[in-house]
Amino acid sequence: TTVEWEAESYDMAGHDTYMHKEIVEQVDAVDRVLRGRIDDRFATVRLGGLNLDAREARSMRRVKILGCGSAYHAGQIGAQMIEELARIPADAEPASEFRYRNPVVDPDTLYIAVSQSGETYDTLAAVQELKRKGARVLGVVNVVGSAIARETDGGVYVHAGPEVCVVSTKCFTNTAVAFALLALHLGRIRDLSVADGKRIIEGLRKLPGQIAEIMELEDHIATLAKEFADAKSMMFVGRVRGYPVAREASLKLKEISYIHAEAYPASELKHGPLALIEPATPTVAIVPRDDLLEKNRATLEEIKARSGRILAVAHEPQEKADDTIVVPRNEPELDPVLMGIPLQLLAYHTALALGRDIDKPRNLAKSVTVE
Ligand code: G6P
Repeated sequence: TTVEWEAESYDMAGHDTYMHKEIVEQVDAVDRVLRGRIDDRFATVRLGGLNLDAREARSMRRVKILGCGSAYHAGQIGAQMIEELARIPADAEPASEFRYRNPVVDPDTLYIAVSQSGETYDTLAAVQELKRKGARVLGVVNVVGSAIARETDGGVYVHAGPEVCVVSTKCFTNTAVAFALLALHLGRIRDLSVADGKRIIEGLRKLPGQIAEIMELEDHIATLAKEFADAKSMMFVGRVRGYPVAREASLKLKEISYIHAEAYPASELKHGPLALIEPATPTVAIVPRDDLLEKNRATLEEIKARSGRILAVAHEPQEKADDTIVVPRNEPELDPVLMGIPLQLLAYHTALALGRDIDKPRNLAKSVTVE
């Protein structure tokens, strides 16, 4: 209930910042988004508030996800999960761009608004515009009963609990997991097999324990962060599933450390940003052991050849990288959920080394309720 949350949420529980508290809380937060939703019998999940019947789930032709900031990045991960597991073409777009471009509103498209607060003005305005044009809009929202939760036709609550730090950590992760649930649910109504449904469920169940393992890496990450505190600029690269992870990590670093950072698809490096690579511009590369591993390794070589310093986030130490943060492996579709977490810690410890006001970065607000 609301009252219960409030008392707990403003207690720092021995942490120096809310951000740190909220990073560590992810073990429990992810457990909450899963709780009561897994249906082993049909290898799927039950989403009580979704308000989308099987016939509708089968007839939709596209999914368009809208959000701002970290919610938009979580939506990008969500779009990939929906496309992979449910085989419905899906993409994410900043809600702010969408509402200003007189979008074609298609009756066969399911629109999904993503928001921690449920109050972000641009996202709410996009929802209202869509509803006015008769679209079906669902919400993936954290705050129960918020404006976006009320205005959408149904959706999935993220159950991250209150997030106090301006920058999103646990809510980002929980939103990505909520999308995995939605993708699994849609997939099992469409063409995802029982075996694949079971495989994803097993992966989901492993997440809390694996997040706890990542927390054990904090001292190592804090040591690395001290070296990055001197960087004047940083590159974050990833391919396909790794790309939204790179974007979110880059945003997080910018927001709280004020170090300039760019995120690029690894494959696009050669079309421009490679010109920036030199020793003072380190790269963080997302390198999961999936079908793109060799491609990503080639990227590491390209960067190394320009004497750029590399930190890899990977499932095993990367020879071409100066350092690797080794994260536990899950199912490939769920890897993005885990690979972002050490980079929250990296941003946190970099900002800490620079003496920044982590919970309240300059010029930013937790929720932007104005235009
Ligand atoms: C602000 C915050 C971001 C957040 C974005 C969207 O810009 O500083 O951290 O991601 O709003 O907020 P929402 O509540 O809609 O997820």
